[in-house]
Amino acid sequence: MATPTKIVLDESELPTRWYNLLADLPVPPPPPLHPGTLQPVGPDDLAPLFPMDLIAQEVSTEQYLDIPGAVLDVYKLWRPSPLYRAYRLEKALQTPARIYYKYEGVSPAGSHKPNTAVPQAYYNAQAGVRRLTTETGAGQWGTALAFACAQFGLDCEVWQVRASYDQKPYRRIMIETFGGKVYPSPSDRTEAGRAILAANPDSTGSLGIAISEAVEVAAKAEDTKYALGSVLNHVLLHQTIIGEEALIQLAKVDETPDLIVGCTGGGSNFAGLFFPFLREKLAARMSPVIRAVEPSACPSLTRGVYAYDFGDTVGLTPLMPMYTLGHGFVPPPVHAGGLRYHGDAPMVCGLVKAGLVEARAYKQNETFEAAVRFARSEGIIPAPEPAHAIRAVLEEAEAAKQAGEERTILFGLCGHGNFDLAAYDAYLAGTLEDPEFSEEDMRAALDALPSAPALA
Ligand SMILES: Cc1ncc(COP(=O)(O)O)c(C=O)c1O
Repeated sequence: MATPTKIVLDESELPTRWYNLLADLPVPPPPPLHPGTLQPVGPDDLAPLFPMDLIAQEVSTEQYLDIPGAVLDVYKLWRPSPLYRAYRLEKALQTPARIYYKYEGVSPAGSHKPNTAVPQAYYNAQAGVRRLTTETGAGQWGTALAFACAQFGLDCEVWQVRASYDQKPYRRIMIETFGGKVYPSPSDRTEAGRAILAANPDSTGSLGIAISEAVEVAAKAEDTKYALGSVLNHVLLHQTIIGEEALIQLAKVDETPDLIVGCTGGGSNFAGLFFPFLREKLAARMSPVIRAVEPSACPSLTRGVYAYDFGDTVGLTPLMPMYTLGHGFVPPPVHAGGLRYHGDAPMVCGLVKAGLVEARAYKQNETFEAAVRFARSEGIIPAPEPAHAIRAVLEEAEAAKQAGEERTILFGLCGHGNFDLAAYDAYLAGTLEDPEFSEEDMRAALDALPSAPALA
């Protein structure tokens, strides 16, 4: 029987547990450190920002964690999400490769972000928190958190990176429609924002700056906590619902992937997709190559150094072991706002360091070229972030064609780009740039890494 175009699961097949890769890693990643004492951070250090349930998940080594019923109920608004066989793309590329994509654009925010926003809002509501603060790059995370807060009766305040606040007014309106408040970052509402603006009144902002602002507000208010849309272990954990579903879906059509591809900003959508497959690989049940893709304008995995660095720009967070371009690095304002982060999730970085995940970087125009090709065959306009993954998939499909080999490729289409049309407009008009970051800025940012133990 031919593989269907859409491999869909029934609601009754929705996985009821998240998968924790930490339980299966031969060597755990180094712990985050307190910047003052350089000792591993403990629950008390994190308590001003996160509720205890999430802190427990952050350090858990249980292999599986049950998803609360109230979270599953909200997930059912869009989950299980479809897995597509990209028949039309394969035909357009005349490739013998079989291409599958797991589509997270069916969620209320249009991306994978609600997979963690919903449990984060839930655990905070359970802990009696009244308000959540956060940052947003592309606007996707802010939208997701505003939606999740509306589900559980919490207030939501979002610092949106200036570049994307200006490029994407519809994201702001969407957040406001869900009941959230949005401030462009850097803003004059925080000490962190005011310091950046004093040094550079035209700052286009960055995720690192916006995180500093949201963390500052949460740390100062008793009834307020902070929610992070990526990077941390508990965020990656929540996203594993993606890969658990994809495993079941591929098994239904008797496939195992030879290659898994995803874009990485902080690493959460890709980790969510590949962690369950890595579990299978570590158990020798399959052996896919796992490939992360990032923008050449913000190449943390391909050009960064593996070192302890702050997660934010100002230096309010613990020191995280990661590939970093330096916490002071401000990437050029490419449209893939969600990929403009100086570091990456420690768990993903540890896997890159260990050689279990490889990484590539692509420029803005070549990713949009791939995205338009995808849109014309598959009928979905990708967000600029997963367009990077599509670029890598096109290359692999071409390599399969040259080699005359059937290869099974799975990639994460983590969001749609229906609110990113200004970027498509620029691409189609031929005015989209391939901004280079300044090597000098990167070196300066790397010279300013905090003093901390070296990572092997
Ligand atoms: C659509 C989309 N994809 C990818 C990302 C990157 O984040 P992560 O690497 O955590 O998935 C973002 C972040 O804002 C996003 O909005």
